[in-house]
Amino acid sequence: MDNFKFHVYTEIFFGKGEIKNLPDVLKRYGKNVLFSYGGGSIKKNGIYAQVMDLLSSSFNVVEFSDIEPNPSLDSVKRGVQLCRDNDIDVILAVGGGSVIDCTKAVAAARYYEGDPWDLVLDSRKITKALPIVTVLTMAGTGSEMNRGSVITNKEQMLKLGMGAPVTMPQATVIDPTYLYTLPPMQTAAGAVDTISHVLESYFKKGDDAFIQDKIAEAVMITVIKYAPLALEDPQHYAARANLAWASSLALNGLTGNGKSGAWSVHSIEHELSAYYDLTHGVGLAILIPAWLKHILSEDTAEKIATLGINVFRLSDDGDKMSTAKQTIVAMETFFASLGIPMRLSEVGITDEKFEIMAEKAVKYGALKHAYVPLTKEDVVRIYQLCK
Ligand code: NZQ
Ligand code: ZN
Repeated sequence: MDNFKFHVYTEIFFGKGEIKNLPDVLKRYGKNVLFSYGGGSIKKNGIYAQVMDLLSSSFNVVEFSDIEPNPSLDSVKRGVQLCRDNDIDVILAVGGGSVIDCTKAVAAARYYEGDPWDLVLDSRKITKALPIVTVLTMAGTGSEMNRGSVITNKEQMLKLGMGAPVTMPQATVIDPTYLYTLPPMQTAAGAVDTISHVLESYFKKGDDAFIQDKIAEAVMITVIKYAPLALEDPQHYAARANLAWASSLALNGLTGNGKSGAWSVHSIEHELSAYYDLTHGVGLAILIPAWLKHILSEDTAEKIATLGINVFRLSDDGDKMSTAKQTIVAMETFFASLGIPMRLSEVGITDEKFEIMAEKAVKYGALKHAYVPLTKEDVVRIYQLCK
C-alpha cells in the first residue's frame, strides 16, 4: 500500500430534516451567502422554499441560478462576478454534482485575478477559496465530500477536473428524502457513477490495498441492492439513504487512498459529455463493459473474476477467464436493468469524433499510467465496441 494523507474535513448532517442545521453552520462564515442551484428542480420539489425560509431573516442571500449539467466555464465566471459584487462570505450549493462542482470553481476563482480556466489547468494555483456548504439533491458524484470539480470549457471542447484541499465542502446536508424527485435516469446514472468511482481504484496495479478493495466491494454490493429498489419506489427511504451514503464514501478517498496510477474510464467518458453533453453516468455505463472487454487478458482475468465472485455472486469454478467473461456480462446486464441506453448509437453518438476524443482522453487522463496502459488506438477501439 502506498503512503497517503487522508484529511476529509467535511461535516456531514445526514438524515431527514437535517437541513435545520444550515443557519448555525452558515453563521460561522458570515452573513452574505451566495445560494447556488441548477435549472429549477429545487423550486418544484420544495427544497428552495425550505432554504429561503431558514435563511431569509438572518442572511443576505444572493441567488446564483441556472447552473447547467456538465457546468461550463461561463457559469463559473458568472458566479465569481456575483461573489465580487456582493462581498460574499460563504457559498451554499444546493444540487447535484454539477452545482457543487461549479460552486467549488467559483469559490477558488473568487481569489484568483486571472482566467478561472488557469485553475482547472493547474490546480496548484488554487491557494484560497470561499467556504462551501452543500445540500445534496442527487447521489453519484461524491462531490459533496471531496475536493474535486469538473468544468467544461465549451470554446476549447475540454472537460477537465480541478481541486485543492480548500475546495472541499466545510459541511454537507444529506437528506435522503431530497432524492425522491430524481428522474429515473438520473437515479440510474448516479448509481453507475458511484460504482465507477470505486472501480477506478479497484483496477489499479498492486493487490496489497486489501481493505480498500473490500470497502469498494461493499459499496458496489450496496448500489446493486438498492438502485433497483429506488427505481421501483422513488420514496424508498432506506434505498435513497444507502445510495447517498455509498456515493459519498465512494469518492472521499476511502477506497482510492494508497493506490497510485491513473483512472481508466473517466477521462474517456468526459470526452463524451464534453462533446455531446451526455449524462456522465450514462456514458460510464456504456463504456465500462467495453473497457473491461478490451483489457481482458490472462493478466487481468483473475481480478475481473474476483469482482464477479465477490460482488455479482458468481460461482468460483477455478476457470478465471470464463468467470471474468461472466463478470462483464453481469455488469452490463445490471446497468441495462436500470433502464440505461447501453449503446452510443442510442444516445445519438456516431464515430465522427472518436479519433479526437481518444487523443484528448489519453493526454488529459494520463492513460499510459492506467491499470492496463491505454493508447489512442486502444481508446478508439473501446469507443467502437460501444457503437
Ligand atoms: O439543474 P436541476 O434543475 O437541479 O436538475 C438536475 C439536473 O438536470 C437534476 N436533479 C438533481 N437533483 C434533483 C434533480 N431533479 C429532480 N430532483 C432532484 N432531487 O438532475 C440533473 C443532473 O444533475 P447533475 O448535478 O448534473 O448530476 P450529477 O450529480 O451526476 O453531476 C454530474 C457532474 O459531476 C461531474 C460530472 O462529470 C458532471 O459534470 N463529476 C464530478 C465529480 C466530483 N466532483 O468529484 C466526479 C464525477 O466522476 C463526475 O465527473
Ligand atoms: Zn464519475
